[in-house]
Amino acid sequence: MKNWQELERKYLFNNVERLPILMVKGQGARVWDENGKKYLDFVGGWAVCSLGHCHPVMIKALNKQSKILIQAGPHACTPPQLQLAELLVKTSCLDRVFFCNSGAEANEGAVKLARRYGKLKLSGAYEIITTFNSFHGRTLAMTAATGQPHYQDPYQPLPAGFKNVAYNDIDAIKSATTRDTCAVMLEPVQGEGGVNIPDEGYLKAARQWCNEKGILLILDEIQTGIGRLGTMFGYEQFGIEPDILTLAKGLGGGVPIGAFLAKEKCAVFAPGDHGSTFGSNPLMCATAIAVMKYIIKNDVAGNAMRGMACSVYGSQYLLEGLKKLQSKYPFINEVHGRGLLAVIEFKQEISNSVRMACLENGLLVNSVKPDAIRIMPPLTIGKQEIDEALGIFDKVFPKLKIQ
Ligand SMILES: Cc1ncc(COP(=O)(O)O)c(C=O)c1O
Repeated sequence: MKNWQELERKYLFNNVERLPILMVKGQGARVWDENGKKYLDFVGGWAVCSLGHCHPVMIKALNKQSKILIQAGPHACTPPQLQLAELLVKTSCLDRVFFCNSGAEANEGAVKLARRYGKLKLSGAYEIITTFNSFHGRTLAMTAATGQPHYQDPYQPLPAGFKNVAYNDIDAIKSATTRDTCAVMLEPVQGEGGVNIPDEGYLKAARQWCNEKGILLILDEIQTGIGRLGTMFGYEQFGIEPDILTLAKGLGGGVPIGAFLAKEKCAVFAPGDHGSTFGSNPLMCATAIAVMKYIIKNDVAGNAMRGMACSVYGSQYLLEGLKKLQSKYPFINEVHGRGLLAVIEFKQEISNSVRMACLENGLLVNSVKPDAIRIMPPLTIGKQEIDEALGIFDKVFPKLKIQ
């Protein structure tokens, strides 16, 4: 496709800075551009391709289901929908499931459920406390929930009912809580905010506060869920259970599916309260079942844990490698991560140069902040791929022009 950049300029919105490559093929942890150049993909479809690209179990599930039933609509149940709901409930601490198409939509639904709970059980309480540097999606309400002014300012006025407070600060949650508060919504580890891991005890304290006040704890595990942090759900590592949990990204391993799950006590929707035309789409549900079953059977979450260090479970492979780079290159300020979600923080705003130099050398990484590179590869990667990525960083770093 020779004129693809012309087509991009002419037909697509200029809403994101895209890479100067046309991605045409993916297999495992690799993708290829239109010239046949191969890249090691440590972005993984934006923390989505849990099993890598075009995994055989996904292809098989998609092929099989596409010949049986592709779409049903919200008026009928389908076997993949029911089987996936059962699998999610049996794997998690939650009781009921609603399927949708994306992360933002899952969070919207979770917030609507919390507001419904507030109306019915908390004298009309409607406010949700969220945190600075969070990311909950791009709809208007989720932009209000996302505590990052640069996402919010262009779209003011935003829907009311969200209070953004400091992350990792239980007193900030406590001070913001009023009689109008129906829920606190947190990411167990902030992903888009720069891989921010809270202090031991923060999530437990938030859980305890919600219990004390009778309000709900919503965990946005759209990025951290389904193995990314080294356990099926991130909350397992923090010794708490949410009242509502949201999922997307890795759940479908590459197909668009999201979900929110709730404990029975707050599953208060009545017929007509919420819906989605494509939610529970059997093709997506059948694929997500295949992804989840593969993850469970092959302990893929355990692979994510071994692949990278985690303060709970001890030092592991990728983070050790990143730490070695940190000790070699003084312009690296800090490296940290959990499971297969990690960040390299620099002392200067050089992340875009690093991203482009890595691209040149066959590695895709994400410039999550001007001074930080985020790594979120497929959960199935092995030692050889980690070594290769570390080798590319080691090749790229000495050539950077650092002032
Ligand atoms: C924690 C979190 N919540 C919500 C979203 C939004 O998901 P989506 O882009 O599928 O709407 C993201 C996406 O990056 C996310 O990381």
